Amino acid sequence: MNIQTERLLLRPLKLSDASDIQRLAGDRDVASTTRNIPHPYEDGIAEKWIRSCQGKVDAGELINFAITRHSDGSLLGVIGLHPDAGQTQGELGYWIGKLFWNQGYATEVAEAVINHAFTDLGMDRVYAAHFTRNPASGRVMQKAGMLHEGFLKGHTEKWGLFEDLELYGVTKVQFEGRGSTSSP
Ligand SMILES: CC(C)(COP(=O)(O)OP(=O)(O)OC[C@H]1O[C@@H](n2cnc3c(N)ncnc32)[C@H](O)[C@@H]1OP(=O)(O)O)[C@@H](O)C(=O)NCCC(=O)NCCS
Repeated sequence: MNIQTERLLLRPLKLSDASDIQRLAGDRDVASTTRNIPHPYEDGIAEKWIRSCQGKVDAGELINFAITRHSDGSLLGVIGLHPDAGQTQGELGYWIGKLFWNQGYATEVAEAVINHAFTDLGMDRVYAAHFTRNPASGRVMQKAGMLHEGFLKGHTEKWGLFEDLELYGVTKVQFEGRGSTSSP
């Protein structure tokens, strides 16, 4: 399934996206604040990763999308939702190529995927976490309608350091009521 937003098309990943993914995710500044992107991003990693995603998508273990721009078809990044075993909740993750940062793209796709989780997938809650040293992702989560729920000290190891995590989440009821004065 595809999702359209004002400026962006979210569509399934294709093997032909591998070179764009390698170039964009291969930037150390993109990899540094994610839990799983390796660095250096060697030849073949993107193809292997796309194939593994397709397997998980087919098994119902992942919903993910290439983020592309209507205006020129460029691939800007990737966004994914990992459903829990009961499929009632999902963990959101995303990255955007550095060239495209600070233009509202991550916020636009995060909000669209959260909406997809609630309206099309029947989920009740979406959650996400970012490293405390990555406040830009916290802004994305806030602007997309998520609420700060907690903090985990030194919870995740990344490149030999234990990273503090900020936890965000939003229920369907909270998301649908966002913007109203009396949110639940
Ligand atoms: C985090 C990331 C996805 C943001 O993507 P983006 O498309 O630039 O996000 P948006 O433009 O929608 O919003 C970015 C917000 O962060 C703010 N911001 C940027 N740098 C910031 C910083 N150092 N401190 C605080 N806020 C910052 C921007 O001003 C903007 O907020 P505003 O609209 O209130 O001004 C992107 O930087 C990225 O891919 N980083 C590497 C991978 C990553 O960290 N993924 C998320 C893992 S949890």
